Amino acid sequence: MAKKKSTKKSPYTITLIPGDGIGPEIVQATLTVLEATGVPLEFEEVVAGEAALALYGDPLPDNVLASIHDRKVALKGPLTTPVGRGFRSINVRIRKALDLYANLRPIRTFPGVEVPYPRVDMVIIRENTEDLYSGLEHVVVPGVVESLKVITERASLRIAEFAFRIAEQWNRKKVTSIHKANIMKLSDGLFLEAVRKVAIHHPSIEYEELIVDNAAMQMVMNPTRFDVVLTENLYGDIMSDLAAGLVGGLGFAPSANIGEDVAVFEAVHGSAPDIAGKNIANPIALILAGALMLDWLGERKAAESIRRAVEIVLREGKIRTPDLGGTASTQELARAIADRVRS
Ligand code: NAI
Ligand code: MG
Repeated sequence: MAKKKSTKKSPYTITLIPGDGIGPEIVQATLTVLEATGVPLEFEEVVAGEAALALYGDPLPDNVLASIHDRKVALKGPLTTPVGRGFRSINVRIRKALDLYANLRPIRTFPGVEVPYPRVDMVIIRENTEDLYSGLEHVVVPGVVESLKVITERASLRIAEFAFRIAEQWNRKKVTSIHKANIMKLSDGLFLEAVRKVAIHHPSIEYEELIVDNAAMQMVMNPTRFDVVLTENLYGDIMSDLAAGLVGGLGFAPSANIGEDVAVFEAVHGSAPDIAGKNIANPIALILAGALMLDWLGERKAAESIRRAVEIVLREGKIRTPDLGGTASTQELARAIADRVRS
């Protein structure tokens, strides 16, 4: 999925959003590891989320989108969205405004992490711009609301093409579409039709379809049957957290939001307010997102050195954050990974 080639060593300039909750802690940890790779990176820090709301009265000030638009690459901490009230999700706004249509989420087991199944290794590809996340909700009459699920052929074809392209580039064997077209015959039906059209043009990749409830059960009982998982927005959101739970939790799940020529890298997880400010969050999800960012920049060796360092530190098992049963801090784990990257 590399987009840019590095022939020079002038720095890449990247938008940096520290984010809310555990965001600033895990972003700092990720910068420690990125710095150890020696890849020249320059960051333009912008404020979004609760801090921006307090400072400027707007959780997504114009300069945030402008910076990502200009820099083309962003590294982002999680952003809090109020539940059942308040402003619209800033994450959804960023994805829609920059047309970051593909959400790429590799999920794999790491040695040394206690998990129910060894060798889970899948890539979830989630449509990122429509479905029930269109934000089109209204009160019909008091006590009755409608929330519109929008599915378009254009977006479905585009995400399907992305999924099969990744399957081929990453030497994957199978794409599984997840849907509920038995009930939502028109919307999920349109999504499936679009995916089938694309699948025909990729005969070397096996293609199958699963209804989402069955898919959830299969993912818990038999996760190694999944390779590339292709979903609409909502199912992808839910299945990503489920899949993360199979490999040690949200601390291991990185995420890339990819558009035509802009990409935003973050963790699957949110701002984890329950553990914020304690320096105990597991930074690995965002560190792995940092590695995806280096892949995108064409710095594949550096990206690989991060993934290898994460593996070694986890296998050694000496430095672990509390979610892994240890007592190390976010920064201690990051420093251990950075030391391994350097060696
Ligand atoms: P969450 O993902 O923040 O946390 C879920 C659970 O996992 C919590 O118990 C948390 O402590 C734990 N957890 C998450 N990341 C962890 C890490 N790195 N290390 C150790 N434990 C970790 O989900 P929650 O609590 O439902 O949402 C909190 C806020 O985050 C909400 O405002 C939500 O809207 C926002 N959110 C933002 C996202 C983003 O910025 N892309 C994605 C998901 C949620
Ligand atoms: Mg989510």
